[in-house]
Amino acid sequence: METTPFQFANNTPLSLSPNFILPEENRPILSEVFSSASIPTVDLNNHDIDDLASKISQACEKYGFFQIINHGVPKELCQRVLAVVTEFFQLPPEERAQFLTTDHSKLVKVFNYYQKVEGQGKVLMWGETFTHPWHPTEDFTHFLPKNPPQYREIGALMDRLLSLMSQGLGLEKDCLKRKLGERPAIYTQANYYPPCPDPELTMGLPAHNDISALVVLLQMEGVSGLQVVIDGKWVPVEPVPDAFVVNIADQMQVLSNGRYKSVLHRAVTNNRLARLSLPMFYAPNNDAVIGPIEDLIDEVHPPMYQNYSYKEYMDEFYRQEGARRRVKEAFELRH
Ligand code: OGA
Ligand code: NI
Repeated sequence: METTPFQFANNTPLSLSPNFILPEENRPILSEVFSSASIPTVDLNNHDIDDLASKISQACEKYGFFQIINHGVPKELCQRVLAVVTEFFQLPPEERAQFLTTDHSKLVKVFNYYQKVEGQGKVLMWGETFTHPWHPTEDFTHFLPKNPPQYREIGALMDRLLSLMSQGLGLEKDCLKRKLGERPAIYTQANYYPPCPDPELTMGLPAHNDISALVVLLQMEGVSGLQVVIDGKWVPVEPVPDAFVVNIADQMQVLSNGRYKSVLHRAVTNNRLARLSLPMFYAPNNDAVIGPIEDLIDEVHPPMYQNYSYKEYMDEFYRQEGARRRVKEAFELRH
C-alpha cells in the first residue's frame, strides 16, 4: 500500500501514525551509536596554507567529514538565519502547505524524505525539509555589502574550501572549481526535525550519501542528530559552537578518483527538542562532465569511474528513488 507522500510530523502521535514507523531491520539502533569517536575540527584561521590544505585533505581522505571554526561568517548572521528558519517551521502547517509538491523539478518546495519498504510502501521520515536554490557564488558575493568585509565570506567560503581541497590533492588552486563548471548549482535546504515520541522507531533522514560535490551545513547548537559512519560504526557529529560541518559529496569522490570520500550519514531524532540543520549544496550544472581528474590518474591509480554528465548522474539518482541509493557505484569502472 502506498502511504501519503507528505505528512507534518509536528504534533503527530507516532502511535497513531504508522506512516512513520520503519520495519525493525531499518530502524536506528541508538544503543549502538559510538560516541567516543568524532570527526576532526579544522581552524580556518591558519595562515600556513600548506598546513591548512593538508589538514583538510587528510580529513577528506579519512572521514569525508570535518567541522570548521573561524570560517569568517559572522556568528550573528548564522544565529539569525537559524532563528528565522525555525520560525518558518513553527508557522501553522497551512503556510508551508503552499510549497508542497511531488514534482522534483520544482525549485522551491517542502517535502518529507521517505524510504520505500517492501509490502509497506513509503515510510516517511520524521522531519520536514524546505529547499530552494541559492545564487551562484560569484553573482551572489557581488551583491553583498563590502562592509563589514567578512560579509562576503559567506559566498566565498565554498570557493575557499574548494581551493584548499585542490591544493591538498596537489592540483592547481582553481582545479576543482573549474572541473565543477562555470555555473554550479548552489541550493540550500532546511531540515526540521520536531521532537519525536519514539526515536527508536523512525529516523530523521535515512542513511545516504550526498550526490552534489560539496556540502557545508549549519546545525543548531545543543541538539545532536547527525551521524556518520567511521570504521563501520555510527558516530554522532556533535554541534561545535560557531562551526559549520563540511562534507565531501559524490562528485568530489569521483573527481579525486576515490581519494576524498563521500561518506554514508543519517539523521536520527530525539524525544526532547526540535532540531534544525541547514545544508548548502554545491553541485555541478547538468551539462558539466564529471570524471576522475587526469593528473590523479597513473599506472598505480587507474581511473575508478567513467566520465558522465551530471544530468546522467541525476537520472540514475531518480531511477533509484526510495531505496538506499548507490548512484556512484553505477559509474564505477572495474579493472
Ligand atoms: C542532508 C543531511 C543532515 C542533518 O540534508 O543531506 O545529511 O543533520 N542532513 O540534517
Ligand atoms: Ni546528507
